[in-house]
Amino acid sequence: MTEHTPDVEKKTMQPEELRKEILRLKKEKNALIMAHYYQRDEIQEIADFIGDSLALAQYAAKTDADIIVMCGVHFMGETAKILCPDKKVLVPDTAAGCSLADSCDPAEFSKFVADHPGYTVISYVNTSAAVKAVTDIVVTSGNARRIVESLPEDEKIIFGPDKNLGGYINSVANRNMLLWDGACHVHDRFSIDKIMQMKKDHPGAKILVHPECRKPLQLIADKVGSTAALLDFAQNDEAEEYIVVTESGILFEMRRKCPSKRFLPAPAEDAECQCNECDYMKLNTLEKVYKALRDEQPEITVDPDIARKALKPIEKMLDLS
Ligand code: 13P
Ligand code: SF4
Repeated sequence: MTEHTPDVEKKTMQPEELRKEILRLKKEKNALIMAHYYQRDEIQEIADFIGDSLALAQYAAKTDADIIVMCGVHFMGETAKILCPDKKVLVPDTAAGCSLADSCDPAEFSKFVADHPGYTVISYVNTSAAVKAVTDIVVTSGNARRIVESLPEDEKIIFGPDKNLGGYINSVANRNMLLWDGACHVHDRFSIDKIMQMKKDHPGAKILVHPECRKPLQLIADKVGSTAALLDFAQNDEAEEYIVVTESGILFEMRRKCPSKRFLPAPAEDAECQCNECDYMKLNTLEKVYKALRDEQPEITVDPDIARKALKPIEKMLDLS
């Protein structure tokens, strides 16, 4: 920063002031703030809409806001931009990537698809726009099972990039989809031993597991589902305690929706702390949300040709959801 930087730039704004400014700018610019359940608590607090990946895409497709501030990771911003090409889509920190999306290189995936003619290509929403562009149907963890089951039983399917979610769908829907070998660094590293110990210490607790987790965890789960499905289960279930095996940001909304219940975050294998966070999701901060709104950047852009090709499988998903 130079000595000519205005005073307002030099002072650190306090959370209350940031919240006030965010609300003012949001109104002034007809902007919508959307947040995934894994965002920091203070971002979920100021968001106009909080949801899982499916709900975020559905809501973005319908908004009449001029600016969408997508508090999530890069692929969520891309999906919103593809659905709303005329709107300005901002992601507060564009370094917020996704290890799962990164585990599927577009060139390698395209070659895999080309090597398997006659296969229907289903891709998880946690992929780059370039991967979606060579996909027939996009899915999220909230609708993957339903969409796969809507296809004929003998349909030959490639499923990418999450091998754990793909394996889960294969077993519950009795399919034999060809799986890409990708995984999320958060969900793939939960510790089964530590979770079994937690269950011994809390015998009445039910285990809620995201399908991006490994198979042994899926097998001991009382409920396997997307973030929204796990939240919904907790709200409508009679237990008082839950071991939550997904990114710990979801606990904020679980505790808000079910204030009398206890939610215990599950730890990762190598973790020193008691929870498991996605470092990408946590890159967005209140201050970055404020700056994004103020400066109307960083803006998400998608190559028009890729966006045109990626739109079809995303729309197909929305039609089937
Ligand atoms: P859902 O919100 O669809 O459950 O996805 C989880 C996730 O990992 C998003 O990055
Ligand atoms: Fe990607 Fe995993 Fe983070 Fe979700 S939790 S954004 S899948 S790295």
